[in-house]
Amino acid sequence: MAASLDEVKERIKARVPLDQLIGETVTLVRKGPSVTACCPFHAEKSPSFHVYLDNHYYCFGCKEHGDAITFVRKTREMSFVESLKFLASKYGIEAPELEESDTLKRRRGELATLNQMMAVAQDLYTSELKAPRGAEAREYLRERGFTDENILKFGFGLTPAEGYGLVKHLRSMGFREDDMTRASLAGISAASGRPYDFFRERIMIPIRDVQGRVIAFGGRTTTNDPAKYKNSGATALFDKSGVLFGLDHARDAIKDKRSAVIVEGYMDALCLWQGGVNEVVASMGTALTVRQLKLLQAQTKTPEVTVLFDGDDAGQKATLGAIEVVLEVPGLTVRAAKLGGGDDPDTFLRKNGREALKDVLSRAVDLIDVAIGAKLSGASLAAIPSIVTNDFVPWLTKVKDPVKLSYLVNRVSGLTGVAADVISRQLRSFHLGASRSGATSMPLLTQDVSSGQIEQLRVMPTRSLTPVEKGLLGHVFFAGAGEIDTGRVASFLDANLALEPLWDLFARLILQSHVNGIPPKMDPSVLAAFTAEEVAQLSCLTETAPESFATTDRAGAVARLINEQKRNDIRQSITMLKRQVQIAATQSPLDVPRYLSEVMVLTQNLSALERSPGCS
Ligand code: UTP
Ligand code: MN
Repeated sequence: MAASLDEVKERIKARVPLDQLIGETVTLVRKGPSVTACCPFHAEKSPSFHVYLDNHYYCFGCKEHGDAITFVRKTREMSFVESLKFLASKYGIEAPELEESDTLKRRRGELATLNQMMAVAQDLYTSELKAPRGAEAREYLRERGFTDENILKFGFGLTPAEGYGLVKHLRSMGFREDDMTRASLAGISAASGRPYDFFRERIMIPIRDVQGRVIAFGGRTTTNDPAKYKNSGATALFDKSGVLFGLDHARDAIKDKRSAVIVEGYMDALCLWQGGVNEVVASMGTALTVRQLKLLQAQTKTPEVTVLFDGDDAGQKATLGAIEVVLEVPGLTVRAAKLGGGDDPDTFLRKNGREALKDVLSRAVDLIDVAIGAKLSGASLAAIPSIVTNDFVPWLTKVKDPVKLSYLVNRVSGLTGVAADVISRQLRSFHLGASRSGATSMPLLTQDVSSGQIEQLRVMPTRSLTPVEKGLLGHVFFAGAGEIDTGRVASFLDANLALEPLWDLFARLILQSHVNGIPPKMDPSVLAAFTAEEVAQLSCLTETAPESFATTDRAGAVARLINEQKRNDIRQSITMLKRQVQIAATQSPLDVPRYLSEVMVLTQNLSALERSPGCS
């Protein structure tokens, strides 16, 4: 795959008339075979920007250089793949490797149709609630404490009077029945084979994605149906285990406060949101999932998450059930807040007010402590060792962060009286047992066939990395706080177009973590910022032992690598110029002295770099 992207790149470079492309941006001056211009990358009055016959350009003023692809990336602020696509279509170069596969196109089309249907349904539901027949439902919502303003804002709706009102409406707009069932908006009657509305006689709550697009619905019965809530089934837009209800509303507050509150119910989330707890999301009644927690981590580094489930037994059970999931997410601390007796967050807030709720939240306890406490409470002294072996050790095996693990081992030891090294030994034998019994570790790269070819192309490096690139990435990744000059590395990345694009992207993301003040090795959200495919690409780095990048002089090592890269760049330019000299010797001998003097300048620059302290 990487090879094919490389091939497209070479094909495009060979076929794009570089002088013509650049001539669209700046006026070219032609003298014999030589083409010059005033540099488009820096201000100047006399031309020092050269376009060469072998399809590269170089500016003797600002040292910008590259090929057609780098020119487009720089001047149009496009990504590498975008520039390839742009040039291929502009110059009619066939590049099937860049085209979306038919299945991907079809999938995009299907998703667009589902999105449209969701928007149409949401419109119909809200207009039904506003209509005179919606008076009773509006009154119900008012009684639950929602203001008219928030009833609108949260997008509450009502199903139409007829049990096939939405189907009829969608059909009149040209949507197909099989798409309606695919969107979980219609069911097919077993008796008549005709479609009917999936949601009937319900107050509707739209479930939105992070961008605020409606992807599913929850509907609360208006007729005391034993199914109090009905939710959209799984669709191409909606997978309940990967969605947090209300995240679109809560997102900004989660970022601002670096904290989030998770409740169980739709109404809990909406009520708390109205009550000023803006960082609230709902798990929608199911057990918390790793994906849901990662969604929170994606909003802010190390969010403080508080689980605030219902006060009943089911809520407490769900709270304890969350521990296994929480331990699997590195770098996340989750606390649990406890509501008394029969209250859920919604009823508690309405009864006791905002300050009382804040008080409950502030008294939240680390979930691991709650879980350990729950297991130990009532247990006889004699039972404790087996609780450690059978419950706590399996929990601890899920903890991937070594610092957190050591903390927890000590904590369990302190609470149970079982020595920490005994627990550690049990952990090791647990792991050994698992690997002997044939269990393998999770594959890093889960191939998503539906995501199509292009998504995979995008995360392939365009070529293998040079030793300098590998070295720099490693040092930037493994550097501790203050060990490297981030400004210097950043300007190096900005100045250097010859760097491998994917590498360049990784380097920037990792560098950002230093700028934020957290060394990336310690910062789980660095890896969370990458897709699974990218993590797989990065694994060559993350699985490398940090020792191979150990140094007492990180800044010096980085400076030497930057210096080396600069020298490589200049050497490459000199080679190209020497080729120009040969061409000019036969075709435009008058240009030869100028080329030679340019070679001389570059050679001087090179030896200056070789003498500088950064040179090894
Ligand atoms: P609850 O039964 O606690 O609902 O279920 P609630 O939010 O307090 O509802 P109100 O206050 O009576 O209106 C919590 C969540 O579990 C899911 C819903 O997401 C609900 O918000 N649930 C509950 C269902 O999906 N189906 C049900 O029948 C019940
Ligand atoms: Mn409730």
